[in-house]
Amino acid sequence: MRDRYAVVGNPVAHSKSPEIHTLFARQTAEAIEYTRILAPLDGFEDTVRRFAREGGRGLNVTVPFKFDAFRLATERTPRAETAGAVNTLRFDGNQILGDNTDGAGLVADITRNLGIGLADARILMLGAGGAAYGVMLPLLDQKPAVLHIANRTPEKAASLADAFARYGRTSSSGYDTLEGRYDVIINATSAGLQDTMPDVPATVFGQGSLALDMVYADKPTAFMQFAAGQGARVRDGFGMLVEQAAESFSVWRGVRPETAPVFAHFGR
Ligand code: ATR
Repeated sequence: MRDRYAVVGNPVAHSKSPEIHTLFARQTAEAIEYTRILAPLDGFEDTVRRFAREGGRGLNVTVPFKFDAFRLATERTPRAETAGAVNTLRFDGNQILGDNTDGAGLVADITRNLGIGLADARILMLGAGGAAYGVMLPLLDQKPAVLHIANRTPEKAASLADAFARYGRTSSSGYDTLEGRYDVIINATSAGLQDTMPDVPATVFGQGSLALDMVYADKPTAFMQFAAGQGARVRDGFGMLVEQAAESFSVWRGVRPETAPVFAHFGR
């Protein structure tokens, strides 16, 4: 009997998580099976409880359920608590542990896979929604010189910067008042879904900057194309996806898989 895991979301058909976790399981010789579950928009909790009742051991949670997963968890890790969102659930008897591995995945992709240190870096985060929230603490743990948040609605950027001010140096603004060049620019907006990008000045990018879009697609996003045009090194969210998966796998199984073979498998 293999232990059962799944990713739950809506939509979820496009998710690469089953393929990634199956590769991890093979590599580590862990006896797990990993599937996709489409939960009705008003039926997340029922779906999760049924899965756990039927013997499921853990879930990855994706849009739009990360806040519901946060509420459902009976225990939370500090990084889930500060993110206010949960992407990993682990069922231990009656207890439901909620964790958030998104930020650790992002940091691992930048520091390990790309070899870019974040200590003393000037980081610019575009967007102040759930995706931005989820990665703030692990980024600040790297002790950047500043983590500036810019958002179309500046008030939301200010709230986010204030909420995390006790963990490191944060600041905020709208897009039009952005000044100076940044070492790392992270697109945490959902603008890419409309094939557009936040209206930021070209001067935030430079030679040697890293421009990372948290989403991934078969072709470079509008943000990546614009950044590349300014001489920045670009990266999509696929690396973050694989690294957050490895982190979730280790929360469930106590062993962190190698990610390089997975990148190779996907031709990355
Ligand atoms: P998520 O949880 O995926 O982050 P969200 O909470 O709806 O989603 O937040 C979406 C983010 O993308 C917000 O920062 C939003 O900006 P506003 O707060 O001003 O709405 C940003 N966003 C979405 N579409 C955008 C666009 N076309 N241009 C710029 N920013 C956009």
